[in-house]
Amino acid sequence: MLKVQGIETWYGAIQALKGVSLEVKQGEIVALLGANGAGKSTTIKTITGMLKPAKGTIEFLGQEITSREVEDIAEAGIACVPEGRHIFPGLSVIDNLMLGTTPRKNPSKADLDRDLERVFHLFPILQEFRDRLGWQLSGGQQQMLAIGRGLMSAAKLLLLDEPSLGLAPVLVQEVFKVIKQINKTGTTILLVEQNARMALLIANRGYVLETGKMSLTDTAANLLANEDMKAHYLGAHAHVKEARQRRLNERPSA
Ligand SMILES: Nc1ncnc2c1ncn2[C@@H]1O[C@H](COP(=O)(O)OP(=O)(O)O)[C@@H](O)[C@H]1O
Ligand SMILES: [Mg+2]
Repeated sequence: MLKVQGIETWYGAIQALKGVSLEVKQGEIVALLGANGAGKSTTIKTITGMLKPAKGTIEFLGQEITSREVEDIAEAGIACVPEGRHIFPGLSVIDNLMLGTTPRKNPSKADLDRDLERVFHLFPILQEFRDRLGWQLSGGQQQMLAIGRGLMSAAKLLLLDEPSLGLAPVLVQEVFKVIKQINKTGTTILLVEQNARMALLIANRGYVLETGKMSLTDTAANLLANEDMKAHYLGAHAHVKEARQRRLNERPSA
């Protein structure tokens, strides 16, 4: 379904991706793992067209989409839930959801109703709070709204960038359960996560990025059993340490 081959992406003079290749087949959940700064978000942004690769190609459903406009790529059927949610705080839940339908060409009312029904079935709280404003939701509810909005585009491929980031453990469980359910009901998923263990427990396959290069790829089961993975990414508290390191990195320097 998605075939990324040898992409190289730069931020000015800094090369963030040094030849990244990956593939997602229809029906799969594929995990994209790696430490903070490895290039996961850059990979996602290059696929969605927000960043243009200097080299490499991206194919989606047999068509080359490399360097096409963001809107074209969304229309082709790729939706993205970016890191940090980005819902509209001043708009109601239902208006936020309907904004997700922008990439669709003349959807029928019946199709929209069916997809809204699917989102409300996955996230009953969004139905209950449909008239609340975005800012009135908790962090977990905002993440659910962001995912729900992604689904309203009726995309064939959903890219999720760290959906569990900053959520309480009980909500993390819930989000992973819902991702599995979304996949079962027909959406293919590329899942970026710092919580490698949880991601691999629901994924079919995984890739590990290390400073802009793929270092490892295998089935989820093999990655969970891999000694290198256990040592670096799967320790009981690996993602907690990672989050702490991230906060330290983000601390403004004096
Ligand atoms: N806007 C930017 N300008 C310059 N460098 C950036 C920018 N965004 C990310 N980078 C750099 O690119 C590399 C990959 O970042 P990113 O894709 O965000 O990593 P990840 O999502 O895996 O944490 C990092 O070294 C990061 O510092
Ligand atoms: Mg990131």
